[in-house]
Amino acid sequence: MSDLQKKNAGEAAAAHVEAGMVVGLGTGSTAAWFVKALAARGLSGLRCVPTSEKTADLARELGLTLSTLEDTPRIDLTVDGADEVGPGLALIKGGGAALLREKLVWEASSRCIVIADAAKVVPVLGAFPLPIEVVAFGHKTTANRIADVLIDHDINSPARVRQADRGLVRTDGGNLIYDAACKAIHDPVRLADDLKLITGVVEHGLFLDLADLAIIGTDDGVEVKT
Ligand code: 5RP
Repeated sequence: MSDLQKKNAGEAAAAHVEAGMVVGLGTGSTAAWFVKALAARGLSGLRCVPTSEKTADLARELGLTLSTLEDTPRIDLTVDGADEVGPGLALIKGGGAALLREKLVWEASSRCIVIADAAKVVPVLGAFPLPIEVVAFGHKTTANRIADVLIDHDINSPARVRQADRGLVRTDGGNLIYDAACKAIHDPVRLADDLKLITGVVEHGLFLDLADLAIIGTDDGVEVKT
């Protein structure tokens, strides 16, 4: 994990924003560098849709004008981080528990740029545990159904509910996060479809066919992937 690489990626992505745009603001430490660099540009007429309360707080502090998906349903450009960047710009997201709002904002965007440090680029998705957002009601039953789907995908360890010091982690929407230690996801499209079919699963962290461009930070600049 390199903060310099994250900073380089965030700053390079901010150069893609133009005055008057509606901009989706991602969540996480890399996205925070983007938000800071965007605010520093002082572009006029920006309206920013944050993907978490944490990002909203940062953007507000920096003087960016906030909007919502309700008020600005068409987003010109979203910039967000990722936990893994795989072949074809398939991503795992949700390490920061914001995957539902992130996916809603990404899907409403004309263009999406993923920003990451170089260690996030992987040949196969799945070393990073796949986050799955689950409704709290009956979550243990839902977890059993998730385990069945994982076994069908040759993933034999059950997903584990995410805990923090003060108990179960709650998303901004009040849901729980289960993390599935997949090790390797050989068919992300089928796994994404199968997880979505489980009642109680709100969303999962596989972002497929959503990123248009990846800006990968290096120690002395960035590399761009399409
Ligand atoms: C939050 C996310 C983040 O973008 C992802 O976890 C990467 O975070 P970081 O930039 O801090 O490494 O998906 O839900």
